[in-house]
Amino acid sequence: MRTVDLIRRKRDGGSLTPAEIQELVQGIGTGAVPDYQWSALLMAIFWRGLNRSETAALTSAMMHSGQVLNFSDIPGPKIDKHSTGGVGDKTSLILAPIAAACGVFVPMVSGRGLGHTGGTLDKLESISGFKLRLPVPRMKEVLRECGLVLVGQTNDIAPADRTLYSLRDATATVESIPLITSSILSKKLAEGIDGLVLDVKTGDGAFLPRLEDARELAQTITEICRELGTPVLTLLTRMDQPLGNAVGNALELAECVECLRGGGPPDLVALSVELAAEMVLLAKLAPSLDDARFQALRALDDGSALERFRRVVEAQGGDVGVIDDTSKLPSAPVRVEIQATHSGYVTQVAAREIGLVCMMLGAGRERVDSIIDHSVGVILQRKLGDSVTTGDSLATVHASRALEANEPLLSRLRAAFTIEAKPVDPPHLIIERMG
Ligand code: URA
Repeated sequence: MRTVDLIRRKRDGGSLTPAEIQELVQGIGTGAVPDYQWSALLMAIFWRGLNRSETAALTSAMMHSGQVLNFSDIPGPKIDKHSTGGVGDKTSLILAPIAAACGVFVPMVSGRGLGHTGGTLDKLESISGFKLRLPVPRMKEVLRECGLVLVGQTNDIAPADRTLYSLRDATATVESIPLITSSILSKKLAEGIDGLVLDVKTGDGAFLPRLEDARELAQTITEICRELGTPVLTLLTRMDQPLGNAVGNALELAECVECLRGGGPPDLVALSVELAAEMVLLAKLAPSLDDARFQALRALDDGSALERFRRVVEAQGGDVGVIDDTSKLPSAPVRVEIQATHSGYVTQVAAREIGLVCMMLGAGRERVDSIIDHSVGVILQRKLGDSVTTGDSLATVHASRALEANEPLLSRLRAAFTIEAKPVDPPHLIIERMG
């Protein structure tokens, strides 16, 4: 069948067979299907969608377009977590050491931040010397020794996704549930994991802000993952305000260490513990979610999760001194307080806007090749539901240069906080659990 006929069939609402999809994906690597034909196909998929069998076939073909890691020689369950991302979402660096301390092996392959959302790799790069690229044999050694390994994606993992993602970016076809599903799962399933915990976020700071879109994505990813033979557990969670108090790479890393030391903001600790507990349960290392939660909390209390983090930082060449003294992390020279202009209760903390302000400060990337400043960001002093009086600090900006001339940026940050007379209850973070 000619590619143009497959594009026409999809354009007209028909479906493609797994073999046809496989050939189309293989054609990316061989050049048999040029970018202009894939671009047309992506637009046809955007409008017509893909059924479950097509989505599973696309995911599998993309996953097998590159290397699929195999950790079967490490005895024990290999489980990872994926989040669709948000502002201040730093749970990976807390839950991976917790899960490892509970006996799970966590081969975590993470990405970088783009736009208003941050990325785990950027946070880890705040630790001087930390190596994010390890050859597979060394990855295995670190995973075996530490119970976790924290690396970046290599060019060999799901290369078809890289091509398709850049075509989607250029053809306005990113916001398609089957295309997002295959993109996320092709990379995660190439990690050679036995199970996956998903955190699909919804709300102002999320990749898909509308609840119905996020729920559809959560359901689709859960079904496709299961169809491809990998056990999965999905939480649908709120991203209406930043998670925790810190936004910005080194600031977030310091907050993770604080959590691993037994402190930290309650929302961040609660979600990290919940996701880690789901990993422990999926790994069949606990008879119930309650028991898994108990194990996760104990790993925080007895310092074993912190110890795992220390081990992995050392094994990957990072300066472990920053764990004992987070003031050794990159630190911005300028601090500016944002104060409340009137009294009341915080009823909104606009996550996306705060993420964008941090990006403009230099903490995030406007484009994939932007250079970032690990030291800058924002620390929130008030969150949803808190009471404030005039003059109270709402947030502190950490900047690399004086901001007096940048009143628009400070005003945007101030406007990200809505203060009203009537109190609101902070919303429950977890909206739904899909087992
Ligand atoms: N994250 C991905 O990896 N792919 C998408 O398509 C969207 C979010």
